[in-house]
Amino acid sequence: MAITYYKRFRMEIDLDRAITSSVLPEPFVWVPWEDSLLEHHAEVKYRCFVGEVDAYVFPCLGDRHGCRRLMSEIRRKGGFLPEATWLIAGTEGYVGTVQGVRDPSGVGAIQNVGVIPGCRGLGLGKALVRRALAGFYQAGLRRAYLEVTAENASAVQLYREVGFRRVKTLYKAVDC
Ligand SMILES: CC(C)(COP(=O)(O)OP(=O)(O)OC[C@H]1O[C@@H](n2cnc3c(N)ncnc32)[C@H](O)[C@@H]1OP(=O)(O)O)[C@@H](O)C(=O)NCCC(=O)NCCS
Repeated sequence: MAITYYKRFRMEIDLDRAITSSVLPEPFVWVPWEDSLLEHHAEVKYRCFVGEVDAYVFPCLGDRHGCRRLMSEIRRKGGFLPEATWLIAGTEGYVGTVQGVRDPSGVGAIQNVGVIPGCRGLGLGKALVRRALAGFYQAGLRRAYLEVTAENASAVQLYREVGFRRVKTLYKAVDC
């Protein structure tokens, strides 16, 4: 079996300098976390990631059951933060998702940000990241990080524009 190595960046941000409002363009609205929304987060996550590079790096992201399992795992984490976990709803249902957890060292970790293909380029991805950062801040955290696959140029650019900076390069080995 061959192994492919995907280059990934760990990016971090100082929350004291990063908190700005995250207003959505019409007709989109914020939907805060409730346990009854777990399936919806999982379904939107699947629709955002299927066919994208991260579904090769993390095959569970390209699979409905995998996304359901992943969402359940995120929800069960001790550091799960409802304040940093949001859906965006449009006129025809949910179109974007983000989840946040406090890691054991007290730093906010953005889990998965996704916007469905038909709603990209409208500022929703940036708004989701900013909303999660505001949730970390509200929970008392002052630093946050995420990891992103280097070839996911639009995501890397989005995070840079929000204020994240690369602190480390990692390589994820994937059997293929
Ligand atoms: C990454 C993702 C969330 C961006 O969502 P989005 O709603 O399109 O993002 P936005 O409209 O807020 O765009 C924010 C910035 O991203 C960058 N960007 C967005 N689309 C881009 C593209 N096609 N090419 C280059 N940069 C792009 C731009 O810098 C943009 O800022 P600007 O509007 O000021 O130019 C979305 O493409 C997605 O869900 N991708 C699949 C899942 C994924 O890979 N998630 C990230 C995992 S780490």
